[in-house]
Amino acid sequence: MDKYIIDGGRRLYGSVMAQSAKNAVLPLFAASVLTDKQVTIRETPEIADVSCMAQILKELGASVKFDGGDVVIDSSDAHSHILSSKLTKELRSSVFMLGSLLSRFHRAVIAYPGGCDIGLRPIDLHLNALKRLGVSISERDGYIYCECDRLTGAEIVLDFPSVGATENIMLAGVKAEGRTVIGGAAKEPEIVDLQNFLCGMGAKIRGAGTDVVEIEGVPTLNGITYTPVKDRIEAGTFLIACAICGGEIEVSGVSAENLGMLLHKLRENGCKIHTKNDKIRLSSYGRLKCNRRIETMPFPGFPTDLQAQMTALNAVCEGGALIVENLFETRFKYVPELQRMGADIEVRGRNAFVRGVSGLHGASVTAGDLRGGAALVLAALGAEGVSEVSDLSHIDRGYTDLEGKLKSLGAEIKRVRV
Ligand code: EPZ
Repeated sequence: MDKYIIDGGRRLYGSVMAQSAKNAVLPLFAASVLTDKQVTIRETPEIADVSCMAQILKELGASVKFDGGDVVIDSSDAHSHILSSKLTKELRSSVFMLGSLLSRFHRAVIAYPGGCDIGLRPIDLHLNALKRLGVSISERDGYIYCECDRLTGAEIVLDFPSVGATENIMLAGVKAEGRTVIGGAAKEPEIVDLQNFLCGMGAKIRGAGTDVVEIEGVPTLNGITYTPVKDRIEAGTFLIACAICGGEIEVSGVSAENLGMLLHKLRENGCKIHTKNDKIRLSSYGRLKCNRRIETMPFPGFPTDLQAQMTALNAVCEGGALIVENLFETRFKYVPELQRMGADIEVRGRNAFVRGVSGLHGASVTAGDLRGGAALVLAALGAEGVSEVSDLSHIDRGYTDLEGKLKSLGAEIKRVRV
């Protein structure tokens, strides 16, 4: 197991390019099973979740070749519709393999999906939607058995704008017979990217990015070469790092509207932010002010995947902040580790009450999930003294070379094997 050793207190200067979005690339891998033609995904991030998804495709019989930053997927020889529990337990994204496998084979068997320890993460919205498309579903011994004679388009209304459920329905609907309409759809940029990818393969979809997505089923899909949208959560993580450490950085590849509420909140803290096309420049000097209130919401609200990072920032700002986590039941598990660094935070259910302190001190802390782990790294970068952040396997799920990018901005961080 590796750990970071971070000598905090240094300002950050320079520029970084965002990686392709983890939460865009993973559904694109699933979508590649919809065609027996070759699919090339450019600039694929070297992260553990991508390797895991590649393994899942190989388990189905597809060939997956990493060629520099590109991944070439050929699922013409895919022959299995069964996903073992070993891989699907590690990866939440395995759940939207259901839509692809049903579209390709009219059958699918997957173990209940795993993912970060941030909440119950039920999949009722996925399964109810698939039933509307004509799928019969049974569950036993931790496995979900799905089959259908054919997929038939339907009107589906989601009780909650679930990202994964919206993606699963898109994957199941693109080759279904007739028209599928998703009401109450998620509006995240990664949904728009999936629509662009599928339309590039010949699918007929429109409305992604709004709460109504319409799909006209087509009989077959072609291959594609595609460059995914950049990672707004990675970009936001770097911007918050600079807010915490002070200095001035530029993040490129991500549009301001895809970061929406985050920029508004960072300006509220007192950061200076200039945006031009896909470049976002942030400068932070002197003590910042707490946000008073941050509530995580589906896009375009404040992203839950940046909640932990913003809590780490507010921990060292002036005043107090209420952080409300509306999407996941237990997404404050990183807080005790921040308290070991001197943070003054009280968690009650979905609320975290933050009282800003003048600064944190170094400590040995352990990452427990992807974004909570990133928040610990950010806190350590701004803390006085040396910190150790261990169990980097969580961080490796979503960030390519986090230490290399931070080092290029002037951080004193090194990765050591223990
Ligand atoms: C996606 O997860 C992202 N993961 C998550 O990013 C992100 O936090 C989340 O969307 C919200 O934006 C990927 O895209 C791979 P949801 P997903 O379905 O699809 C409830 C990261 O750090 N729900 O939108 O699982 C669920 O319990 C990860 O990169 C149901 O009740 O999220 C949660 O409260 C973490 N029933 C809410 O919806 C369902 O059937 C949001 O979940 C499905 C979801």
